[in-house]
Amino acid sequence: MDKVKINQYVSFSKVIQGFWRAQDWQWTPQQLNRYLNELVERGITTMDHADIYGDYSCEGVFGEALKLSPQLREEMEIVSKCGIVLPSHRIQGADGHRYNHSKKHIQQSVERSLKELQVDYLDTLLIHRPSPLMDPQEVTEALKILVTEGKVKSFGVSNFNKSQYDLLNQCLVCDKLHITLNQLEVSPYTLDIIEDGTMNHMLKDDVKIMSWSPMAGGKLFDLEDEKAARIMTVISPLTQKYNVTANGIVMAWFNKHPAAIMPVLGTHQIDRIDEAIAGLKITITDQEWFDIYTASLGHDIP
Ligand SMILES: NC(=O)c1ccc[n+]([C@@H]2O[C@H](COP(=O)([O-])OP(=O)(O)OC[C@H]3O[C@@H](n4cnc5c(N)ncnc54)[C@H](OP(=O)(O)O)[C@@H]3O)[C@@H](O)[C@H]2O)c1
Repeated sequence: MDKVKINQYVSFSKVIQGFWRAQDWQWTPQQLNRYLNELVERGITTMDHADIYGDYSCEGVFGEALKLSPQLREEMEIVSKCGIVLPSHRIQGADGHRYNHSKKHIQQSVERSLKELQVDYLDTLLIHRPSPLMDPQEVTEALKILVTEGKVKSFGVSNFNKSQYDLLNQCLVCDKLHITLNQLEVSPYTLDIIEDGTMNHMLKDDVKIMSWSPMAGGKLFDLEDEKAARIMTVISPLTQKYNVTANGIVMAWFNKHPAAIMPVLGTHQIDRIDEAIAGLKITITDQEWFDIYTASLGHDIP
């Protein structure tokens, strides 16, 4: 599995495993540990978390599983996110849905993530969503402290558009910190960041892209969904031509883009992981890439 250099401190596996849905898997620590070993054996070493996943429980489930193979920690890059507050009985002060980018909240959230994950540092911390109340100076101060303390090696953002990225990055750059990563929703089903120029803006600044919900959260396979059905009409014959599954074709579609997009897969089925990896070994033609693109748009390109 290829690695993608994110910055001087960290490289990610080309394919990333996401843990948003881990609570639904209802796995024992032993079962999750087996899955983690299977991922790492395949070169999938980057693990994507957030403090809030699974009502603030998913990091803890992961931590218990990792504890069973502590040597895996150094083979992994662990990503987590902060900045969203969701109502939860598990967390003090989590009494509503809002964003909180205060220095105190960012620091407390990282402390909790480290404890739950049972690790000493995060390879990367992402600010989960932009906030209208974000004070870029305050975020910068928090990140500076976390980096100095060795709790976070590097950081990035998620769901930031061009102006939100520019606002924070210009502040960070003054402290010789840079945003080198933006985790965004993009898939054959969801093309907004390609269409609105966000992707180009990131490419221009060499900010690497992680794609969340690369299979549109499974919607891509729901043929009762009109858009998914259109896309699958194009993908299906390609699965025959290239002898891979639809998951593999989606990976080949990502791989063709010059931004070296890293899909964050949400599956918990190792067969689907293998199908995705198989897709990295094929190259679809430009025409096939555009056929998927226009099927998603629902109209031809100009
Ligand atoms: N930054 C953000 O704001 C943000 C937001 C959302 C998610 N994320 C990250 O992105 C990760 C991935 O998101 P996601 O879970 O939505 O990813 P996804 O890979 O698009 O969707 C995963 C879902 O699709 C199903 N699926 C996959 N292949 C399938 C197939 N061939 N047929 C039917 N169903 C199929 C999976 O079921 P099985 O498990 O049964 O295969 C799973 O339920 C999350 O875990 C999280 O780390 C970030």
